[in-house]
Amino acid sequence: PAPQDLAGKRIVITAGPTHEPIDPVRFIGNRSSGKMGIALAGEAARRGAAVTLVLGPTSLDVPCGVECVRVQTAAEMLQAALSAFQTADAAICAAAVADYTPAAPADHKLKKANERLDRIELVETVDILAELSRQKGERCVIGFAAETDNVVEYAERKLARKGCDVIIANDVSRTDSGFGTDTNKAWIVSTTGTQELPVLTKPQLADTILDLLQKL
Ligand code: PMT
Repeated sequence: PAPQDLAGKRIVITAGPTHEPIDPVRFIGNRSSGKMGIALAGEAARRGAAVTLVLGPTSLDVPCGVECVRVQTAAEMLQAALSAFQTADAAICAAAVADYTPAAPADHKLKKANERLDRIELVETVDILAELSRQKGERCVIGFAAETDNVVEYAERKLARKGCDVIIANDVSRTDSGFGTDTNKAWIVSTTGTQELPVLTKPQLADTILDLLQKL
């Protein structure tokens, strides 16, 4: 049996992609499978935490013992995460949230012949990680950074800009790391310094992140 070192803790985890509707049949999305956030949820629950997983569209199973709120869009993910965070001790944002969403999604299928499909007006979404960080007080908020180059430098900038406690920077340019893979190559970036981790399975990386959360 796993140590119950997170018993009594409530943790909110965001995971997966978001789908931003263009019309009833088209959306803007990304390559997140949800594996990283689902691994975090599963390991946290195994270690005794009460977990709310705010999960974007994926066909993967939710680990047992995890409360799951399924969402489609960045706006829905924001509402669910803010609501669950009110009574939580910590949040981990592993979702790949769309940075932009169509300004006015159509209520009918757009027709190539007579409606504009070559230009879609976009508006910025709310940054969920930054919003949770603003509301966190003494609580701990951990974010991710998906980068293809200058991984640590960009993660350091994100840490400062978003105001969270830690950024887990992952290299999404590698075939053994990032979107859809079973393993991840990551760095723990905080104001006290950066620690490089070896390639780990997503459950192993999840446990490392939860150890860190426990210390903070
Ligand atoms: O789901 P998998 O297939 O297992 O892939 C895992 C992953 C690569 C998606 C994951 O490990 C990861 O890196 N998640 C963050 C991906 C991302 O979109 O990073 P970003 O650099 O765009 O965003 C930085 C941070 O801000 C993230 O914590 C993100 O959740 C958060 N964010 C971003 C935009 C927004 N509107 N709201 C947010 O909360």
